Amino acid sequence: MKVEATIGKNMQPLLRVENLVKRYAKRSLAGTPEEFLALDGVSFTVFPGTTLAVVGESGSGKSTLAACLACLESPTAGSIWFEGREITKLEERACRQVRPQIQVIFQDPASSLNPRWSVMEVLAEPLILQRKFTREEIDRRISSLLERVGLSPDIVERSPTELSGGQRQRLAIARALALEPKLLILDEALSALDCSVQAQIANLLVELQGSLGMTYLFITHDLAMAAHLADEIAVMDRGRIVEQGQAQKILKHPEQETTRQLLAAVPRLTLAPPLLEQ
Ligand SMILES: Nc1ncnc2c1ncn2[C@@H]1O[C@H](COP(=O)(O)OP(=O)(O)OP(=O)(O)O)[C@@H](O)[C@H]1O
Ligand SMILES: [Mg+2]
Repeated sequence: MKVEATIGKNMQPLLRVENLVKRYAKRSLAGTPEEFLALDGVSFTVFPGTTLAVVGESGSGKSTLAACLACLESPTAGSIWFEGREITKLEERACRQVRPQIQVIFQDPASSLNPRWSVMEVLAEPLILQRKFTREEIDRRISSLLERVGLSPDIVERSPTELSGGQRQRLAIARALALEPKLLILDEALSALDCSVQAQIANLLVELQGSLGMTYLFITHDLAMAAHLADEIAVMDRGRIVEQGQAQKILKHPEQETTRQLLAAVPRLTLAPPLLEQ
């Protein structure tokens, strides 16, 4: 549907991941060093302006994938291409230039928002770091970011700890947007919110995709939310993508047992039309 409509034949992928492997060192119960394979040859492509949802049970490697894409972890093997450049091969300086373009929002924004700062400071910092805006421009940009995510300007003096969960998540999105990223990775970013706030923020994401052409990697264990937001879904199991395809196709004709189990965990009402288009 949306994918075919958006992607021209010659369009370059924004992100291409090839055979990504991540091994973590760990110790066995007996204390001997061992390795744990968290990503086991993951490959996929994301086109600009689209959403790929990565779904999977706890421990399947979703956050490890997000951390590798955001340069927070270095992969053991494989490659990540961003706008045609292999970022896994970049020197530290070149990597610093790419990094702001890939932003991650986690489940608990409180951990990434400094509680000693005001909302104003949280939003001003990424703009000041870019060193290309005057004080007036920064103020203007902050007002526009707040408006874009539906937060009232009245809260700028508050600390992130004085906001509701939904407001904090909107603030995290506004902060990520301040860097004008091309790719926004949302790692269970809506999971801790109640249903109505989840829906509001999901709609905000769709709206921002329409107005800014954002590309999302939406990580979740909730197949219904994935189907609601994504063009394509990739299902992960023990470090591998076991099934991938158009969101509606995965919902209607899941081929793998893992996908069927994730589907079985979704309340039937949530899958009612129009989510499950007839
Ligand atoms: N820093 C680390 N050191 C060792 N093992 C790790 C590390 N981080 C993750 N792992 C292991 O890698 C596997 C994948 O973890 P990951 O956090 O990527 O899963 P996930 O799919 O995001 O799970 P969840 O849905 O619970 O967030 C898990 O078995 C985890 O214990
Ligand atoms: Mg995780």
